Amino acid sequence: MQWRGKVALITGAGSGFGLELARIAAGEGLRLVLIDVQSDALDSAVAEQRAAGAEVLPFCLSVADAAAMQAMAQTIERQWGAPHLLFNNAGVGAGGLIWETSLEDWQWVLGVNLMGVVHGVRLFTPMMLAAARQDPAWRGHIVNTASMAGLVNPPNMGVYNASKHAVVSLTETLHHDLQLVTTQIGVSVLCPFFVATGISQSQRNRPGPSGKPTLSQKIGADMMHKAVQAGKVSAAEVARKTFAAVASNEFYIYSHPKALGSVHERMRDVLESRQPADPFAGRGDVREQLKAALRGE
Ligand SMILES: NC(=O)c1ccc[n+]([C@@H]2O[C@H](COP(=O)([O-])OP(=O)(O)OC[C@H]3O[C@@H](n4cnc5c(N)ncnc54)[C@H](O)[C@@H]3O)[C@@H](O)[C@H]2O)c1
Repeated sequence: MQWRGKVALITGAGSGFGLELARIAAGEGLRLVLIDVQSDALDSAVAEQRAAGAEVLPFCLSVADAAAMQAMAQTIERQWGAPHLLFNNAGVGAGGLIWETSLEDWQWVLGVNLMGVVHGVRLFTPMMLAAARQDPAWRGHIVNTASMAGLVNPPNMGVYNASKHAVVSLTETLHHDLQLVTTQIGVSVLCPFFVATGISQSQRNRPGPSGKPTLSQKIGADMMHKAVQAGKVSAAEVARKTFAAVASNEFYIYSHPKALGSVHERMRDVLESRQPADPFAGRGDVREQLKAALRGE
């Protein structure tokens, strides 16, 4: 695909993968719709991409807000028409034992990670299909950001796992559904492993009071922070890989293909009706550390 002059829409564009995707898109001459809930991060991303020569339409909103997403989609349709590249990327991380996850945390994490993607898909896919019907040469691609936690279920991060499994399911279904009606729109699901971004400080954008974290939530936050900080693959590399995967129409995009062993094990557990294996088995003594910390040993 020739990107110059086409439109890329990126949610969570103020930091991490979203910011790196915006940098590449600006470099490719795409016009950018940049969305983020954090206004200072969004402002600085917008200023940077404009300085790089990109035309930018910014929207400071929460992807979980259906009405705000709908108003934004109507503005985009009026001003620039359907996006050619749609990155439903905004997401937040939260941990803790699954029964300790509060109702507010379920609503926050599912609201951003799952409903944010739902809104992107339900608002923009019909617009993209209409553009494709009008012009047989029109091409589009949707990338939803899930996680390796959408393919395996590490302990002490249940709300995040559930949200990301739902994104994988939604995106596989989107692929099948689109295949029924068009060959002009591709779909991918990005499944990163731990990468140093702002994800371990997601609480910065949590709406409402967060309440006092439980021991398991503190341990989860600490482990997530250490794991992402130790990540050897950069967010910029993942964004480059994502653009390459779009160009070659790959469905599953992995930041760390070597970490797929635990996915393989999980699939065998499912097929052979075994007890779920430890998803941390390939990560030294992480499970033992987690057990000891939770038991106060
Ligand atoms: N970094 C990792 O290790 C990792 C691993 C797997 C998956 N992911 C996923 O990658 C995606 C991007 O996260 P990241 O790692 O770049 O983290 P990040 O915190 O650096 O970036 C996320 C961006 O989303 C924005 N955001 C948060 N809530 C929002 C909301 N309600 N509406 C709009 N924007 C909102 C934040 O302000 C931030 O700019 C997320 O979906 C995350 O779950 C990250």
